[in-house]
Amino acid sequence: MVLLYTAKVILLTGLRFIQNMENFTRFTGDKAAQYQHVLAQATQICAHENNLIAVMANLTAVLNQQFGWLWTGFYLVDQAANSLVLGPFQGPLACTRIPFGKGVCGTAWAEARSIVVPDVHAFPGHIACSALSNSEVVVPCLDTAGQVKAVLDIDSDELNGFTDEDAAYLEQLCALLQDKF
Ligand code: SME
Repeated sequence: MVLLYTAKVILLTGLRFIQNMENFTRFTGDKAAQYQHVLAQATQICAHENNLIAVMANLTAVLNQQFGWLWTGFYLVDQAANSLVLGPFQGPLACTRIPFGKGVCGTAWAEARSIVVPDVHAFPGHIACSALSNSEVVVPCLDTAGQVKAVLDIDSDELNGFTDEDAAYLEQLCALLQDKF
């Protein structure tokens, strides 16, 4: 009886481990279908892990694998320093800190709203971490109390790389993090 129970525990633990190791396959389809695919995977990632950094790291990996943008990453709110500090990301070297209210990220934090920037060169105070960036979207990540705890920042090397539709899907993705702060 004990042996059977032990075997069952080992089997279930193994299955859970395999589930966590599931590969992400890039999905071909329209933008809505691609985001649904990403959101389904993101939901699985968030269901199996509560460590914020680990989850954020895999969310940037999934977004990067699906969409291949120039830069995809999180900045975390550092309340004591009144700045954002770089979190998990995929892409080239990036700015380590962004002060409250500065740049697109600091503005999204200060105003607690998503910002779509069709042309970064036309955004007053834009912080250029990469000369290759031409458009950007920044989405705040709120905790369960509605406080901004991080922002998701995505850069494209194309102009007009993002629309309000992207922001809306990315808000759904960030909402998956709200109980992990
Ligand atoms: N462009 C951002 C800075 C972060 S990097 O793009 C990764 C901004 O203006 O806040």
